[in-house]
Amino acid sequence: MNQVRKAVFPVGGLGTRFLPATKASPKEMMPIVDKPLIQYAVEEAVAAGMSDMIFVTGRTKRAIEDHFDKAYELEGELALRRKTETLEFVRNLLPRHIHCIYIRQAEALGLGHAILCAKPAVGDEPFAVLLADDLIDGEPPVMKQMTEVFDYYRCSVIGVQDVPRVETGSYGIVRTAPVADRLERIEAIVEKPKPEEAPTTLGVVGRYILTPRVFRHLENLIPGSGGEIQLTDGIAALLREEQVLAHRYRGTRYDCGAKLGYLKATVEFGLRHPEVGAEFTRYLGQLAFQDPA
Ligand code: UTP
Repeated sequence: MNQVRKAVFPVGGLGTRFLPATKASPKEMMPIVDKPLIQYAVEEAVAAGMSDMIFVTGRTKRAIEDHFDKAYELEGELALRRKTETLEFVRNLLPRHIHCIYIRQAEALGLGHAILCAKPAVGDEPFAVLLADDLIDGEPPVMKQMTEVFDYYRCSVIGVQDVPRVETGSYGIVRTAPVADRLERIEAIVEKPKPEEAPTTLGVVGRYILTPRVFRHLENLIPGSGGEIQLTDGIAALLREEQVLAHRYRGTRYDCGAKLGYLKATVEFGLRHPEVGAEFTRYLGQLAFQDPA
């Protein structure tokens, strides 16, 4: 099987938890300090050696396309104002060998449906899926950790972490058997079980490497509640015929699809930002000592 060259970024969700910010632009364009979430995810895929970035976009697609396109007017203005460093930075957002492909998900019919929309661009090869609202700070980057697992075991690999039992209803939850350090074979997967019904507390996060076989299962699924096609159901069907591994990634995850996770990421990345980090650290220190009364 090939190495993983293609990365799919489903960005067609409604982002209701961030309204009104997400009314006219996708949540993946929200910045953590000065870089949009989608760019962190693309950089992670590039660091893992991938070259084709496939965005499955929805109603508010323009902003993401514009972000990765050449910006003639902006570049012209920066050149006129002799802002050479900023100009170079804007010009080189992506290395030159990277291709961006945009596919439209006409209706938000679920994550599984979004992935199925990417099938014509993925073809018959293994591919990665990155949910940009899961910002994961890992060294090496998490997708790189996962391609190393894929290169060795040649099967689907899913990023997982332990979650508090009260939160199982927000995750796909897996039951597993041990394989190696940080690596387990998935025996079962269920979508968002209630805490009292969850078989374990091992939750799926927004990083996947999948074999193309998953498309066939997604195509055959009957839509669940709200007419949505769930990726979890596609993976559950895949499990019956192929090995699927769970990788306990090394890194810190911020759930930027929720307000609190987004704020935590903003503070953490702000504290170590090369330009404003030192002053922001002082500022937060002062805030902490202020009398709330
Ligand atoms: P979420 O469950 O976070 O849903 O989707 P959402 O619509 O983005 O956000 P909320 O819950 O309304 O606030 C998980 C991932 O799947 C993508 C989203 O963009 C996100 O990356 N997705 C979801 C799609 O691309 N298409 C869909 O139809 C649904």
